Amino acid sequence: MLKMYDIITKKQQGRELNEDEIAYFVKGVTDQSIPDYQISAFLMAVWFRGMTEEETLILTECMTDSGETNELLSIKGKKVDKHSTGGVGDKVSLIVGPMVAAANKGVYMPKMAGRGLGFTGGTLDKLESCTGVSTEISAEEFESITRELGFCIAGQSKRLSPADGRMSALRDVTGTANCIPLIAASVMSKKLASGSECIVLDVKCGSGSFCKTMREAEELARLMVRIGAKEKRKTVALITDMSSPLGCAVGNSVELIEAIRVLEGRGNERLTELCITVAANILYAANVADYESCVAIAEETLYDGSALDKLASLVERLGGDKRYIYDTSLFEESNVTAMLVAEKSGYVTRIDAYEVGRAASVLGAGRDRIGEAIDPTAGIILNKHVGDRIEEGEALATLQAKTIERAQSGMEYLFRAVTIGDLPPEENKIVLKVI
Ligand code: URA
Repeated sequence: MLKMYDIITKKQQGRELNEDEIAYFVKGVTDQSIPDYQISAFLMAVWFRGMTEEETLILTECMTDSGETNELLSIKGKKVDKHSTGGVGDKVSLIVGPMVAAANKGVYMPKMAGRGLGFTGGTLDKLESCTGVSTEISAEEFESITRELGFCIAGQSKRLSPADGRMSALRDVTGTANCIPLIAASVMSKKLASGSECIVLDVKCGSGSFCKTMREAEELARLMVRIGAKEKRKTVALITDMSSPLGCAVGNSVELIEAIRVLEGRGNERLTELCITVAANILYAANVADYESCVAIAEETLYDGSALDKLASLVERLGGDKRYIYDTSLFEESNVTAMLVAEKSGYVTRIDAYEVGRAASVLGAGRDRIGEAIDPTAGIILNKHVGDRIEEGEALATLQAKTIERAQSGMEYLFRAVTIGDLPPEENKIVLKVI
């Protein structure tokens, strides 16, 4: 008879687990028969000892089968899913979903997204910063919005990969989030369960992500692509830079507003480039056209306003007021605004994504515990980016918070995040590799 104690010690000794042992673990996670402390001990053993590719594949399959699989049967076109491994200032899904839908090429993007935790932001919190929007919708509503608009962004159904829900919650509080086989199984189990034929992964690399080095990001990307291929899903992974925050805004309403600017065709250049690349890869994976044509199709949706209209329609379907999307002055303003200014003249050589993420979190944009309320207006707007010239006394960033105390704490983190040097740094591309 299998015992959780034996499975934990086997992994602790660095030995390979078999299918029965992994299936026993996942079943116990799902039906709650294994307590949190044994799950946490197992996760920590995996963190130290790793998993072979075979073990990771079995874990992914068991997690996928731990709940329902969503075939979205009433949708006849190609379904493509997109997932980011999480970063700071990452509002790409809010832009790419509308772009893919606006391309109107029979490609659907049903995107189940998550909330922020710790230093990384969450797409759902950003979307819900628009008054009235609720992303907690039924599976039927999710399917109906996807069919009608061509995309939907909403909360993860508790019925899809429930084992991941419990494991992720424990990983977040036990220091086991940054573990390649666990990330791969977490991401891919949800993607496989959600029933999309093609999967485009945005694997973040740098201080503001779980993969700090290119070696780790590449290992994770290759592993997920191989899992996707074994499960007969067309899977592409882009490795993208997360050493500094993506775009200018980090927070919730500030990021939704920045997403709107990109959809209006006047957004930050690096962010726009990444969104066009991700959208083009989605259209290309769905066999819409050759890659260059997919880039042109994606670009067009930003410049003709059609992608912006799609976001407005989603906001309306989720209970919000679409006027916010066309007039961002309607968004609530924060109580306190503070400015970080440059102490000396020079070039911005570093804006550390992790420190900026922590700054946004202490300002009130993130939560330290699951379920905590966030301040939708809290966040940071960067006036300068890595490589920019700055003069002493010039504004580097604006911070928004509810209270002066929060603004002061955020300022301490943000101050640590920025380095000004005498020489301009080497240019860092946004898309580092495609796998
Ligand atoms: N995103 C996920 O869904 N899971 C992880 O473990 C990391 C990022």
